Amino acid sequence: MIDVDRDHLLVAIRSAVAASPNAKAAMRQTVQLLKDAMPHYTWVGIYLIDGDELVLGPFLGKPSPHTRIPLGRGICGAAATEKATIIVDDVHADPRYLACSIETKSEIVVPIMNGPEVLGEIDIDSDRPAAFGASDRALLEQVAPLLAEALTDS
Ligand code: SME
Repeated sequence: MIDVDRDHLLVAIRSAVAASPNAKAAMRQTVQLLKDAMPHYTWVGIYLIDGDELVLGPFLGKPSPHTRIPLGRGICGAAATEKATIIVDDVHADPRYLACSIETKSEIVVPIMNGPEVLGEIDIDSDRPAAFGASDRALLEQVAPLLAEALTDS
């Protein structure tokens, strides 16, 4: 268990999103706060739905070759299609996995929903195996609705 005050981080993200002038700024701030606070979050990004593809928006970490992902592909595509969070403890054991960096060992993808509609998703990779647990899921599933609000407000 990594010792991070997730409640404090959530409050900081909520304030930053509320103070952001637009959705892009809200997404950028969120990515920055998550990346800075969580040492095991090696790559943090937000994908947004564009037709039947996910398009990479703000991110921090190494540039990804996957700037557009069809909904039927990858762990990202699966999370958007299933409209549910996916945690993969060992990406190399998951046939859906689209490699972004050879150092990546585990991944969490959390859909950003507006009611039944998927707007996008939060995608986080870790260089540590099985880095994501129930507390990461709980945190990110509280962050996603804040982003949904920012994306539907503007
Ligand atoms: N691993 C993702 C692709 C995106 S990169 O991790 C940034 C997937 O399997 O969908």
